[in-house]
Amino acid sequence: MQERFILKVEDLTVSFDGFKAVDGLNLYIEPNECHVIIGPNGAGKTTLLDLICGRTAASGGSVKFHDKELLSMREDQIVHAGVGRKFQTPSVYEDLTVFENLELNYPKGYSVFGALTFRCDDTIRGRITEIAETIFLEDMLDEKAAYLSHGQKQWLEIGMLLIQDPELLMLDEPVAGMSVAERKKTAELLKRIITDRSVIVIEHDMGFVVDIATRVTVLHQGQVLSEGSMEHVQNDPKVVEVYLGH
Ligand SMILES: Nc1ncnc2c1ncn2[C@@H]1O[C@H](COP(=O)(O)OP(=O)(O)O)[C@@H](O)[C@H]1O
Ligand SMILES: [Mg+2]
Repeated sequence: MQERFILKVEDLTVSFDGFKAVDGLNLYIEPNECHVIIGPNGAGKTTLLDLICGRTAASGGSVKFHDKELLSMREDQIVHAGVGRKFQTPSVYEDLTVFENLELNYPKGYSVFGALTFRCDDTIRGRITEIAETIFLEDMLDEKAAYLSHGQKQWLEIGMLLIQDPELLMLDEPVAGMSVAERKKTAELLKRIITDRSVIVIEHDMGFVVDIATRVTVLHQGQVLSEGSMEHVQNDPKVVEVYLGH
C-alpha cells in the first residue's frame, strides 16, 4: 500500500549551545502538496530546512523520506535520494547562459557497471527546453545569467533543481525581492510543479501564501504553533498573537 506521507519529521530537535532552535518538531508532507511554513523571525524555519537537507546535524529525532532516515545521510546522498533545496540568495553561474546553467545540473547517469553514461544530446536539450518553459525563460536560453532580473535568477535556480527531478523541493523565501508580477508568475510556477512533486516553502508574503498553500504550518520558538488550511491558521488566536497581529 502507498504510504500517505513522503516525509515524516518526528520529534526533531537541534540545540546550539543549549538553545533549542528546533524543539521536538513534527511535520508530515503528503505527495503533491505545497506546504508553507510561516512564523516570526528566529522561529527556526531555515534551521528546519537545514536539518532536513543535511546541512545541520540534528541533536535528536527522526526525518524519514519514504523509508530512508535522512539524519544519517550526507547532503549529497539526500539530494540523490530526491530532496532538493534552494537557499535564500540565488546562486546561479553569472557567466554561463541559462541553457548552460541548466545543463550543468542535468543528472549524470551511471550504468550498472559504474561507468558514466551520457544520454543523447537531444534528450538533454528537450529536457532543458521543457524546464525553461516551466520557469518562463524559454526565450532566454542563450542569455548569460548575469543579464537576468533578480526574479528570473530565482526561477533559474528553481529550474536547476527541477532538472534533477526531486520528489521534494524546499524553497526558502522564493519571492523575496520580486515584483508583484513576478510573484504571480512564481505562484503559477509552484502550482505547475506540484503536479509531479511536493514542495515545502518558507514565506512571509501572506498574499502569496494564500495563493499557493495547500497546507500551512506556523512555527514559533522552534515548535509547531498551529497547522492546517490558511483559513484555519489565520483565524487561530495564538497565530494572530505571535505573528499575524504585528
Ligand atoms: N548555527 C547556529 N548557531 C547558533 N544559533 C543559530 C544557528 N543557526 C540558527 N541559530 C539560531 O536559531 C534561531 C532560529 O533561526 P532560523 O532558523 O534562521 O530562523 P528563521 O528562519 O525562522 O528566521 C535563531 O535564534 C538563530 O539565531
Ligand atoms: Mg530564515
